[in-house]
Amino acid sequence: MAVVPATAQTIRRAAQTLRDGGVVAFPTETVYGLAALALDAHAAARIFEIKERPSFDPLIVHVSDEDMLALVAREISPEARALMRRFWPGALTIVLPRADAVPGIVTAGLPTVAVRMPSHPVALALLRETGAPIAAPSANRFGGLTPTRAQHVEKMLGQRVECILDAGPTQLGVESTIVRLDPRPALLRPGAIAAEEIEAIVGPLERNVDERGAPLAPGRLAHHYAPATPLRVVASAGVPPAERHGSGYLAFQHAPQGYAAVRVLSPSGDLGDAAARLFDLLHELDALGLERIDAEPVPERGLGLAIMDRLRRAAA
Ligand code: TXA
Ligand code: MG
Repeated sequence: MAVVPATAQTIRRAAQTLRDGGVVAFPTETVYGLAALALDAHAAARIFEIKERPSFDPLIVHVSDEDMLALVAREISPEARALMRRFWPGALTIVLPRADAVPGIVTAGLPTVAVRMPSHPVALALLRETGAPIAAPSANRFGGLTPTRAQHVEKMLGQRVECILDAGPTQLGVESTIVRLDPRPALLRPGAIAAEEIEAIVGPLERNVDERGAPLAPGRLAHHYAPATPLRVVASAGVPPAERHGSGYLAFQHAPQGYAAVRVLSPSGDLGDAAARLFDLLHELDALGLERIDAEPVPERGLGLAIMDRLRRAAA
């Protein structure tokens, strides 16, 4: 009984599932989303696992009020404020400087976070009831069609989510429009709000940047989260001691000898744990000013596929 009509009672239960670190599907005015706590790296990692996303594209964080916004965004420019006043709650996602509390897996290691305040009453009620920001991509399996009805979600993900809140077909049916403001206003993803409406507030938007291919496409761009330190994907067993001295090692389960610094993704070998820690540990190693980072290959199953995709891109 994954699909349940959205009522005060089922929304309360879904919120409890989220607070316990679980994943639920819920309606927004754009599309159905797959929700998890945005400030909990493990919960957010489950979204990637359920979607079978081959890479950690950054997720959109949903908020219901100013207090939640302040938890995820460090700074809000006057231009961003003007857009919020005009379009929130609604189908506009704004890229803002991220607060430290937002885990790397949610932003794919970017210094920014994409935020929106949805207008759907069920989405808002779920946020308020949960009392915390919610990360949510569209609730489809990777490569599948965008779900605009609870039944679409059920067909693709029904066995994998604890609950799907059904509020009928979504009003907008396409994802939110995504803009950034720094260094110049730009349209990152065309969506449910027309670019012209946004330009009426902030002036001309750069448009030759989109999420699939062009310069600003996080998650599509080979290097967007690559550390400044050169990185290669290699098991320590193949690295002679002389090459270890000045280097760091990102281990999957076990710390090897001889490296200047070592971080372990998951001592118990859990790929979900490893995914949840990947970006944060890469940041830590990158900050040490090492000659190189050697990253140990992880098994390519489950979230291991996404981890390896990210490591290979970081090494590219
Ligand atoms: O309508 C929507 O936006 C739906 C509903 C559920 O709210 N959500 C949605 O999420 O479409 P998703 O995961 O498909 O969108 C993520 C996209 C990324 O592929 C990327 O293009 C952009 O949002 N994005 C996320 N964080 C970003 C960032 N920090 N900088 C630039 N773009 C970002
Ligand atoms: Mg999507």
